[in-house]
Amino acid sequence: TIGFGDSLLTPSPLQVFGQAKEQINNIFVDVQNYVHDAYERMIDVNNLCPGVINENELDSILDYRTQVRGICEVLTRDQMKVAFFGRTSNGKSTVINAMLGEKVLPSGRGHTTNCFLQVEGSPTGDAYLITEGSNEKQNIESVTHLAHALSNGKQLNEKELVHVYWPKDKCRLLSDDVALVDSPGIDVTQHLDDWIDAHCIDADVFVLVVNTDSLLSNTEKNFFHKVSTNLSKPTIFILNNRWDASANEPEFIDKFNSQEQEREQHMERATDFLVKELKVCTPEEVVSRVFFISAKEVLQARVEEHNGFPLNNGVLADGFDARYLEFEEFERRFEECISKSAIKTKFLNHSQQGKHIVKEMHKIMETIYKRIQEQTNLKTCQKYELQKKLNVIEQQLISITNQMKMKIQQMVDDVKDKVSKALND
Ligand code: GTP
Ligand code: MG
Repeated sequence: TIGFGDSLLTPSPLQVFGQAKEQINNIFVDVQNYVHDAYERMIDVNNLCPGVINENELDSILDYRTQVRGICEVLTRDQMKVAFFGRTSNGKSTVINAMLGEKVLPSGRGHTTNCFLQVEGSPTGDAYLITEGSNEKQNIESVTHLAHALSNGKQLNEKELVHVYWPKDKCRLLSDDVALVDSPGIDVTQHLDDWIDAHCIDADVFVLVVNTDSLLSNTEKNFFHKVSTNLSKPTIFILNNRWDASANEPEFIDKFNSQEQEREQHMERATDFLVKELKVCTPEEVVSRVFFISAKEVLQARVEEHNGFPLNNGVLADGFDARYLEFEEFERRFEECISKSAIKTKFLNHSQQGKHIVKEMHKIMETIYKRIQEQTNLKTCQKYELQKKLNVIEQQLISITNQMKMKIQQMVDDVKDKVSKALND
């Protein structure tokens, strides 16, 4: 059991991502300094003793320096990404708004979202949007303003991505580095492959929003079959939305039993799809991947609560409290999954690459160190040999000098003998 004090200390799953991001960022700053220092030392050595370090070694270090700089840049921008898909009008935009706790994205009957919209925390604190290929910030004040900005500009291509920057203090998800991607209905496009290449490869979690008025369609299934062939074991949640409509169904005689049966039917289909067809989760995991919710109710309730009214104002359909709790349960499971998946997909690669770079650099530095040591040893040996030769020469010189001395002495003695003999004679 977790005590009160522990729960205060235990970070939420989303904060774990933030902590991991901070740690890996700090490690890479150290790696960056290490590469920088190594390069500077190599230049010093090269200037002092040209030829000790070869060109390839200098090029490799420069290459590692660029790689590390690139990783550092990506790391500061890394965020957890969740992408929402489903058929038109199933409630994708409404689910995102419910999670954000306010009406940020346009929603409505008929085909509403006509391009990809990525909602993320605003670095400046202001709400603005940036369309693909442009740097121009367009200020937005409200959802009507956003809808207007989206329809007013140049004709948007359905696979185009518009970044919506929203104040972080308005939503915990945004302040914890989660980016939520809304998409047009998958039934209105011919270009699913392009969508997958452009928007799914770096998504950590997928949410399929289905309408409980109908069963899972082939379009929805085919899309996720394609996603799971491109990504190994994607994390997929299924939200059976508009569950409030089922509670309001007037034709049900025994409302409770009928809704239970309907739920079982949807659950069975979703389990077959996730476990047997896609093989992305186990039968045990399904209960924490499939939920029955009403995004519209959650959004309404949260907006009311934000404006100081009670969460349930009494005009909501039967079973609101249970649906609300189920939405919260989805959010809890979602946060756990996205954090784990993002730490693995975003940081595992970087940390392996970082380790590889440090190892390779270490090898290069060691090779250079050994080479310098060998050359120093060689010079010491050469000095020793030279010394030996000098000693021999010195000995030879001494002996030659001694021999010369003796000869000269003999000659002097000879001359002396001869001179004294001549004088005596
Ligand atoms: P496109 O952007 O056109 O692909 O649709 P979408 O999937 O984003 O759907 P959107 O969120 O725009 O919702 C479509 C309509 O369904 C809106 O009028 C919503 O108010 C309504 N809606 C969404 N969720 C629910 C729900 O849980 N219950 C009910 N009753 N209506 C809902
Ligand atoms: Mg929409």
